[in-house]
Amino acid sequence: MTAVIEVSEVNKRFRIHHERSKSLKERIIHPGQGSYSDVQALRDVNFSVGTQETVGIIGRNGSGKSTLLKCICGVLKPTSGQILIRGTLAGLLELGAGFQHELSGRDNVYLSGSMLGLSTKTIDRLFDSIVEFSELEKFIDTEVKFYSSGMYLRLAFSVAVNVDPDILVIDEILAVGDERFATKCIDRIGQFQKEGRTILLVSHSADMIRGLCHRAVVLDQGQVIADGPTGDSIRVFRERMLADAPKPIEEAASAGSATIEAVTTPSGRFNILSGQRLQLNVDLVAHHGFDGHFMMEMFSTEGKLVTRTDPMMNSVSFSPGPHRITVDLPEVPLTDGDYDINLGLVGPDGYEVLAWREQVAKLQVTYNGRGAGWMAMPIEVSVN
Ligand SMILES: Nc1ncnc2c1ncn2[C@@H]1O[C@H](COP(=O)(O)OP(=O)(O)OP(=O)(O)O)[C@@H](O)[C@H]1O
Ligand SMILES: [Mg+2]
Repeated sequence: MTAVIEVSEVNKRFRIHHERSKSLKERIIHPGQGSYSDVQALRDVNFSVGTQETVGIIGRNGSGKSTLLKCICGVLKPTSGQILIRGTLAGLLELGAGFQHELSGRDNVYLSGSMLGLSTKTIDRLFDSIVEFSELEKFIDTEVKFYSSGMYLRLAFSVAVNVDPDILVIDEILAVGDERFATKCIDRIGQFQKEGRTILLVSHSADMIRGLCHRAVVLDQGQVIADGPTGDSIRVFRERMLADAPKPIEEAASAGSATIEAVTTPSGRFNILSGQRLQLNVDLVAHHGFDGHFMMEMFSTEGKLVTRTDPMMNSVSFSPGPHRITVDLPEVPLTDGDYDINLGLVGPDGYEVLAWREQVAKLQVTYNGRGAGWMAMPIEVSVN
């Protein structure tokens, strides 16, 4: 597999000048000698993306994801290191990067097309399909500064996917669109994948990364801390988030409130027949007393979320020390396949993760019927 994006030893430092913090007198005596501080947004970043690969980038706020994409798209120059791109690249960067606000949607389509190396003639030919995909016919002659963030996204996405790039780079952009348009974008990304193009995608949504990417890179404080199969990288990401989450003052430790030590079944096996009962024993050690909710997810081998329990259900309460949670699924109506199980504890609000383990077990389900889909839905039929 040839690499189409190669990032080698890339560092990016931003210098922030604190000119304004000097008094007027200081500024007159020492002109131009303001204090400054450096932000190291990227540190020795190395990774490559091959043809036909879809790679996700995850990391918390400020970890350097957007900076990395901007360097790859050539909008920013790395302080040191090299980036090699083979093929044409279209990027959807953070909102605000890309379009000229004083120009109309129409002019921006031409401008971004020409920046991607397309001739006016080619853009003329693509123009209608770009506008059609964006559904902005009525607003195409309006200056983009009057666009809502959703409209801006629509136009940016439409340009990027219609200019026929070899590589598509997307920064978190699907987050601002409405759900229908986001689905349309994801379908289009799926089509891109089928056509064998390369996609690099930043998202805060682990589900989206899992659903679209074969591989994911985790950035933390500008460094790559994981690069591998999506499930593994998401596990590293979540574990890192847990380890470093801010701790409430009154509670000894909210993040990492408990350590999940083992997940087992009474039979010792993780294979069942469709429709059978599944019991899990979750052994954990609570580091202090707390209340919360037990949560469980199942993912298909393609990384699609099959089910996630309601984070406000299944209340649990712990005193400090070892505990066993017994989980009972009376009937698992899944069809044939392997399902990855993730589970953990969230706080009383259903948001804060208190303990989490990704891919703690792989459940194998055998289905002997002829129904199809993920579920063998129990139904009852009667004739009167
Ligand atoms: N133009 C800039 N000038 C100075 N510092 C910057 C600039 N752009 C980014 N930074 C800093 O670089 C670091 C990485 O920022 P970046 O925007 O790449 O993070 P991110 O991972 O995309 O975050 P988010 O999830 O919030 O989008 C941050 O500390 C940020 O403050
Ligand atoms: Mg960002």
